[in-house]
Amino acid sequence: MHIFLTGATGYIGSAVLDAMIKGGHRVTAIARDPEKAEKLLAKGATPVIADLGLAKMYVPLLKATDAVVHTAYESSPCGVQVDQLAIETMLAAQREATAADGKSRAFLYTSGVWVLGRTVRAADEDSPLDPPAHVAWRPAHEDLVLAAASTGLRPAVIRPGVVYGGGRGIVSDLIKDALNGIVRVVGPGKNRWPCVYDHDLADLYVRILEAPLAAGIFHATDEADERVSEIVEAIAGQVPQRPDIRNMPMAEARKKLGTYAEALALDQKVRSPKARALGWAPSLPGVANSVARLVEEYRNAQREKNE
Ligand SMILES: NC(=O)c1ccc[n+]([C@@H]2O[C@H](COP(=O)([O-])OP(=O)(O)OC[C@H]3O[C@@H](n4cnc5c(N)ncnc54)[C@H](OP(=O)(O)O)[C@@H]3O)[C@@H](O)[C@H]2O)c1
Repeated sequence: MHIFLTGATGYIGSAVLDAMIKGGHRVTAIARDPEKAEKLLAKGATPVIADLGLAKMYVPLLKATDAVVHTAYESSPCGVQVDQLAIETMLAAQREATAADGKSRAFLYTSGVWVLGRTVRAADEDSPLDPPAHVAWRPAHEDLVLAAASTGLRPAVIRPGVVYGGGRGIVSDLIKDALNGIVRVVGPGKNRWPCVYDHDLADLYVRILEAPLAAGIFHATDEADERVSEIVEAIAGQVPQRPDIRNMPMAEARKKLGTYAEALALDQKVRSPKARALGWAPSLPGVANSVARLVEEYRNAQREKNE
């Protein structure tokens, strides 16, 4: 397949790019920075310098592709607006191309499990949503994507758990903090985080792309139901010197982190039956049980960055 990828330089997008290239797919990927574009080229993608917010820089490219995989997200006060406009513009371009050549096209959107809010029972893809303020905007973007099914496209919304592996993301930040001697936990840490290994998540994107009928919502979680305290304890036990672990009271966390604090404090159990129905199975059994490997991956990523 020929795939148009946004966010290829990011945490999720770079893992997805690797999996697509490994799967023998052709990838056109946008990058904002020429140096990062060079790295995409070295990985086997065709880079295009473009900004998500400037659709005319990249929308003409969509006609020649079979699928769009959207993993980019601009972390700025305009992020939500930029995301909405990018989704609308890319879907419109795909619709136009499909109307012209009759070929159906896939659109994969990256959401997240936080839209589910606190889950009393284990949630699946049909569970009701209750997003905390931090991601209150996200269900509308999911709906925008899913509605494209009625226009001849094949839309899929992927909701990853907290991604782990390599040198980026929330779990890597905990590893970095532990190596630096102090780990801060939002609240008591008794809440469960649904998590997913970056390579496993990337494998799911490729499976969805390659399954002609795969559409709708897909959760991506390893189903280990780990409490934050277990994750942090495992990391603390793996670094050379045990770090201080400090539980930040919620009021302080809200002051420091804003709405992000509520998201980090969510207690969630999330299942991924639709992904499993595609033959997907997580290769790692959660963070705590893989911690030696994850600390090693973090160190390798730091070494590569400094080379
Ligand atoms: N990481 C997780 O644990 C996790 C879990 C669930 C859901 N998600 C969601 O998944 C999405 C991606 O997350 P991530 O962790 O991969 O984020 P990330 O590492 O920050 O990557 C963001 C990507 O978007 C690109 N980007 C940002 N603004 C852009 C713009 N204006 N034009 C073009 N590209 C732009 C970045 O490019 P540059 O390299 O140029 O900055 C980068 O490639 C987000 O919506 C996030 O909420 C993440």
